[in-house]
Amino acid sequence: MRQPKPEIEVVYSAEEIGDRLNELACEISALELERLAVIAVLKGSFIFAADLIRALHSVGVNPEVDFMTLSSYGQSTVSSGTVDILRDVAIEVKGRDILLVDDVLDSGRTLAYAKDLIAARGARSIRTCVLLEKDIDRAVEIRADIAAFKCPSVFVVGYGMDMAHRFRELPFVGRVVTS
Ligand code: IMP
Ligand code: MG
Repeated sequence: MRQPKPEIEVVYSAEEIGDRLNELACEISALELERLAVIAVLKGSFIFAADLIRALHSVGVNPEVDFMTLSSYGQSTVSSGTVDILRDVAIEVKGRDILLVDDVLDSGRTLAYAKDLIAARGARSIRTCVLLEKDIDRAVEIRADIAAFKCPSVFVVGYGMDMAHRFRELPFVGRVVTS
């Protein structure tokens, strides 16, 4: 179905993202994590996680991969303040090294919720890895162990991230220009 084409300004290009992912994979490989499981927080991280695990493969890291679907936004662009778990992981996390992957660290609520949940289940270690770290004061005290890029305090789309379910397919991170 054809819809009017909004103007999207590139914030991080596909090429910049690809180059940075190779650096992140080397950083993660150097941590020498054991029985590593990557847990991607859906939906926004699905493309980042897919590219990251392939970059990890190319540096010889072969994790198990699982997904957890969390929601804090609904169709809004402002965090609702509560995090809902829509789908839980299937793997056993007890005693394992976990790499928690999310798209954006914004208020911090989503990542903090996921991290606390995995910690309560007895993971041996938890590292957090995000594509974008927004340049704002967080509502919750949490830092990403690994962040691909800093992001200005604007709502971004593309590379898996959406605005009301649109724009996930864009191969770059962009912002919608409202004129
Ligand atoms: P937080 O819980 O406020 O840190 O929000 C994190 C979640 O909100 C991320 O996992 C994203 O899915 C979503 N989010 C935050 N900022 C943006 C944005 O600019 N664009 C798209 N999704 C976002
Ligand atoms: Mg997300």
